[in-house]
Amino acid sequence: GQTATHFMPAKINLPSLAAAVSQCSACDLCQDATQAVFGEGNPDARIVVIGEQPGDQEDVQGKPFVGPAGQLLNECLSQAGIDRDEVYVTNTVKHFKFTQRGKRRLHQKPNSREIYACRPWLEAELSVVSPKVIVCLGATPSQALFGRDFRITKSRGVRLQTEWCDQTFATWHPAAVLRMPDESRRAQMQEQLVADLRVAVSHS
Ligand code: URA
Repeated sequence: GQTATHFMPAKINLPSLAAAVSQCSACDLCQDATQAVFGEGNPDARIVVIGEQPGDQEDVQGKPFVGPAGQLLNECLSQAGIDRDEVYVTNTVKHFKFTQRGKRRLHQKPNSREIYACRPWLEAELSVVSPKVIVCLGATPSQALFGRDFRITKSRGVRLQTEWCDQTFATWHPAAVLRMPDESRRAQMQEQLVADLRVAVSHS
């Protein structure tokens, strides 16, 4: 199948990538999504934060992490002593994947084919920004960078090396924290997310 490589601009920088990703049809997700959502933030960031894919509000606004998960991310970043403006925030997959349920659009997990097709965009962003530290939020970015066997439950908060960055951390996705029904468990997950961010910051 096709990958995003087919849509790469000749001259690679963040503005040229953002323009090119809006024309990407390397997988089928572009057909139903409103628009591609590229990464955003400090182009000289020492920390890159990677989510899964845009959600409903991100799809509409064209910006990453602006919905409920984004609000919790901002709160956790600030609890860890970082400003959202300092970091560069992006997603593993650039188009929203969903199923329609009446008026609601319910998030669906991207599959490995979609993640593979989209990965050149993420790789290009990482090569341009060249962060000191990467933070993967949840299983999707973690498995995209470390492979399918990666488990957040086993390896969160651990400093790991990848070909993109020699200090890569994985932690809970803020949406997973929001979805946790048990209140004390939810509070614990948020504390762990913040603690993992603090460790990441300390290495940046
Ligand atoms: N969840 C993500 O993984 N990314 C976003 O941009 C929003 C919600």
